[in-house]
Amino acid sequence: MKITIIGAGNMGGAIACGLAKSSAANACEITCSDRSKEALEKVSRANPSIRTVSDNKKAVQDADIVLIAVKPWLTGEVVNEIKAGLDYRRQTVISIVAGVTFAQLTHFLEKEGEEPPVLFRLIPNTAVSVQGSMTFIAAQGASPQQTEAVALMFNALGATLTVDERLMGAGTALASCGIAYAFRYIRAATEGGVELGFYPEQAKDIVLQTLKGAVALLEANGSHPEAEIDRVSTPGGITIRGLNEMEQAGFTSAVIRGLKASCK
Ligand SMILES: NC(=O)c1ccc[n+]([C@@H]2O[C@H](COP(=O)([O-])OP(=O)(O)OC[C@H]3O[C@@H](n4cnc5c(N)ncnc54)[C@H](OP(=O)(O)O)[C@@H]3O)[C@@H](O)[C@H]2O)c1
Repeated sequence: MKITIIGAGNMGGAIACGLAKSSAANACEITCSDRSKEALEKVSRANPSIRTVSDNKKAVQDADIVLIAVKPWLTGEVVNEIKAGLDYRRQTVISIVAGVTFAQLTHFLEKEGEEPPVLFRLIPNTAVSVQGSMTFIAAQGASPQQTEAVALMFNALGATLTVDERLMGAGTALASCGIAYAFRYIRAATEGGVELGFYPEQAKDIVLQTLKGAVALLEANGSHPEAEIDRVSTPGGITIRGLNEMEQAGFTSAVIRGLKASCK
């Protein structure tokens, strides 16, 4: 399966390198095309077997899958550049561009007298570079087998969930912006740890291990977070006192408000 990635920046480069490391793709069947020499050099340094080129039109010629990973405002221009060379009956197009809908992609890809290609929208997060992404998949015009094949490929880079396009905004807020919100919690807890007397690096390691433990417990027990909280909270004890203080300061409502603000 030959895959060409247009835009080998943070996300495109990480997807190329992640797929190359996995059993989901052969490094020598991955091509990255980018106008930035530095981006291509970074990919080559990470995996010299990945083909790097600076000509988008040539890059898509042999591909089975063309994955578009440029900034949203460049999507129309890039599609316009490559579409004459695309064979919609044979090639699948995947966009990881946040906020650009199937309707917009179909409009960009329009060719007179031709049906649009099988199209996927994917929203990964930056943990794709460590095979820890939460990736949402939406499909247009794809068979269940084609959707399954894309999900299998991206399962190699973390977890995937196939959803209706209407949930892509919510998925972006919860997991793609959400990774920043998780980092902000880690930063806040780390700063609290320093105020309580730990060195910053110690405090960060303590918070990370605590989070790993929390995730492991939820996964092992299949429980709701509130059930795990009940197990820690002694009546009249210090945990419930801390939790109530956080809620007084608007913790839950701040998280939900942040998620809703980032959901378009
Ligand atoms: N970052 C995230 O967490 C995240 C999560 C989900 C989805 N996304 C989506 O992923 C996409 C890429 O984001 P990113 O953070 O990877 O951006 P990025 O680091 O800027 O990477 C985009 C790359 O595409 C190159 N490029 C621009 N125009 C091009 C063209 N005409 N032909 C070939 N290459 C071109 C850029 O080069 P220049 O630097 O020279 O412009 C850059 O190297 C965005 O649409 C974003 O919405 C991002």
